[in-house]
Amino acid sequence: MAKKSLADLPDDLKGKKVLVRVDFNVPQDAHGEISNDRRIRGALPTIKKLLDAGAAVIAMSHFGRPKGDPAKDAPFTMDRIAKRLSELLGKPVKKAQDSAGEDAAKLAAGLQSGEVLVLENLRFDKGEQGSCSTFAGKIAALGDAYVNDAFGTCHRKDASMVAVPASMKAKARVVGTLVAKELEILDTLLSNPGRPFVALLGGGKVSDKIGFIKALLARVDKVLVGGAMTYTFLKANGTTIGGSRCEADKLDIARDLLELGKGKIELPLDHLIVSAIDAPQTARVVEGDIPEGWIGVDIGPKTIAKYEAIIASANTVVWNGPMGKFEDEPYSQGTRKIAQAMAHSSATTVVGGGETAEAVEAFGLDEKMSHVSTGGGAFLEYVEGTPFAALAEIEDK
Ligand code: 3PG
Repeated sequence: MAKKSLADLPDDLKGKKVLVRVDFNVPQDAHGEISNDRRIRGALPTIKKLLDAGAAVIAMSHFGRPKGDPAKDAPFTMDRIAKRLSELLGKPVKKAQDSAGEDAAKLAAGLQSGEVLVLENLRFDKGEQGSCSTFAGKIAALGDAYVNDAFGTCHRKDASMVAVPASMKAKARVVGTLVAKELEILDTLLSNPGRPFVALLGGGKVSDKIGFIKALLARVDKVLVGGAMTYTFLKANGTTIGGSRCEADKLDIARDLLELGKGKIELPLDHLIVSAIDAPQTARVVEGDIPEGWIGVDIGPKTIAKYEAIIASANTVVWNGPMGKFEDEPYSQGTRKIAQAMAHSSATTVVGGGETAEAVEAFGLDEKMSHVSTGGGAFLEYVEGTPFAALAEIEDK
């Protein structure tokens, strides 16, 4: 998908205010601190490039899913995010108290070349996800150009993603560095992948990824399954799964997918099982059926060895979804070994966002991958082939 990018903006942006839609929807810990700032760091190249060209940057994002109750929504203010952005940029960042209100308009009007303003959480205003006709216009009026650098939100139709650029047709509307890179990597993956092309598929639910699995099956040479979705597939296949997590109402779908992927889908040969999730001391490995009263929590050593060998002979590997309950150290071996196998492979390695990206980062292996996507849902939907209204508003190259 060839879209106009930062290179298509005028070289000299002195005095111009550029609205940059970023995805600063970052995870928070129990104390409200940002627990992973990858998405903020991911937007830095675009912001720095614009500042270097003399522009003033107005960055805007949603954060979480606020419900309209100011007390409960308070943790989703952009204050901490603006502070982190300022630390990462090494310069002061202004922060507006609203997004389409008086404060944003006042601060944007006074913004000078080389300065950065962060608007308040867009979803604090009902206009972002509702049908308020003035919200998008007020935001659009703040900028002389629009940059979409929010790949993680590209599958959404929020006003800042679609209605704002739609109201700026007379102005430049381009993608930022992060989105340009995501599109380039994913387009190559979908149109011209090096073969053998192997997909690793894990995580909790088959039902969340039906379209994604179908799209992959049409393109890849092998799909290696792990994670909790394993047990739904195994049960659909007639294997006993004990008390393992299973989507009992999705067995027909799992059966259809197994039929569709005959010869391509590999299910785990063995499993790490425990008598209770919080009883890692009971862990043992079992092949085939999982006995009653036991729960599968990770792929077993034979499966790891088999998957490692397949990854080693691949030319392209795409991975979405952890192989086990990796956030608990005793159950993290499968996910860790797969991440290591990808890190050591000479293949093009692409990691889908969300918890797969978090796992790879937790193991310190993110820099060893060809690409770690910033998109969770957006990554899945792009691979599925869903057209993104947000990208349709960006000028074609
Ligand atoms: C994400 O984290 O997937 C994006 O920021 C979109 O967030 P949303 O699912 O709340 O729309």
